[in-house]
Amino acid sequence: MSVLVTGGAGYIGSHAVKLLRDAGREVVVVDNLYRGHKAAIPEDVPFYEGSLQDGDVLTELFEEEEITEVLHFAALAYVGESVQDPLWYYENNVNGSLTLFSAMAAAGVKKLVFSSTCATYGEPDTLPIVETLPQQPINPYGHSKLMVERILRDLVASDPEWSVTALRYFNVAGCAEDGHLGEDHQPETHLIPLVLQAALGNRDSITIFGSDYDTPDGTCIRDYIHVEDLGRAHLLALEHLVPGDYQYFNLGIGRGFSVKEVIDSVQRVTGKEIRVEMGDRRPGDPPTLYADAGKIRDAFGWSPKFTELDDIVRTAANWFESHPEGYGD
Ligand SMILES: NC(=O)c1ccc[n+]([C@@H]2O[C@H](COP(=O)([O-])OP(=O)(O)OC[C@H]3O[C@@H](n4cnc5c(N)ncnc54)[C@H](O)[C@@H]3O)[C@@H](O)[C@H]2O)c1
Repeated sequence: MSVLVTGGAGYIGSHAVKLLRDAGREVVVVDNLYRGHKAAIPEDVPFYEGSLQDGDVLTELFEEEEITEVLHFAALAYVGESVQDPLWYYENNVNGSLTLFSAMAAAGVKKLVFSSTCATYGEPDTLPIVETLPQQPINPYGHSKLMVERILRDLVASDPEWSVTALRYFNVAGCAEDGHLGEDHQPETHLIPLVLQAALGNRDSITIFGSDYDTPDGTCIRDYIHVEDLGRAHLLALEHLVPGDYQYFNLGIGRGFSVKEVIDSVQRVTGKEIRVEMGDRRPGDPPTLYADAGKIRDAFGWSPKFTELDDIVRTAANWFESHPEGYGD
């Protein structure tokens, strides 16, 4: 009786694999390693290397393994890339998901937790972002995730044996507290790793895109959730799946930190000076985004262990300092 983790060689998926195993669950991973790392998967975890768009890989996997539930992380997840090449994003994220759901249906596996995103809300009119706000993405990445949410809603409505929860993550950050798993993206676009790279000398400087926003220090504010708090929410989501129910929750800490606060935090934690450059605003960057995380607290009793930026940054700094080459592959 195993949990299938799609994208289990990636940043968030690999942390979820660790937490599932720590909780005594058997795990199977499928990943095409396009952005993931084999070294992030424990050697004794059955691993299927292949794309979710390859129905044969999935059919073989469901025949060979006794899968009961699926955590579906596998996706392309960079906004800029999605704007440049929308077909690639829709094909990978939507088609890949459709192939997965068809293979699940054929195998009679109908329990799923899906990685959605706050990008499905676009630029909300009010803050904090509650789940009842309209979902109006402003880029193909956000649209691809919203399309998968729509498909899952329809699937549950068509067959009450399906139980599905979509978790809409805010900015996922930090690394495993024990220092064994990290964040190693090529290219890297996430703020905390970029600032850490600047602090540790792997990058000359960090650029702040826009310092004249309507925020206290003029820089954009985001909600950073620690990757292990996020993983723990997935374990709770698996426990709370309800047949015939499509559930959806925001997953953030309910508090925002500015780009400048992140840079200050990295300087404090590493004790290193960072060269900061000022750049223009990027189109489609809302000034402030943070979650109302009340719904998932009330439904699952989930609350984040990490609520201070320095504590989140410390776990990431720990991994970046001890893995200057990332996973080294
Ligand atoms: N990192 C964040 O802050 C964040 C925020 C919101 C939502 N998410 C979502 O969380 C999920 C995981 O994100 P991440 O940051 O760990 O990204 P990641 O790129 O580190 O991990 C994704 C993994 O999926 C794999 N993959 C992609 N397409 C695949 C396919 N067609 N078949 C098989 N494997 C495939 C990649 O090789 C990679 O290992 C994504 O669905 C992303 O949209 C992430």
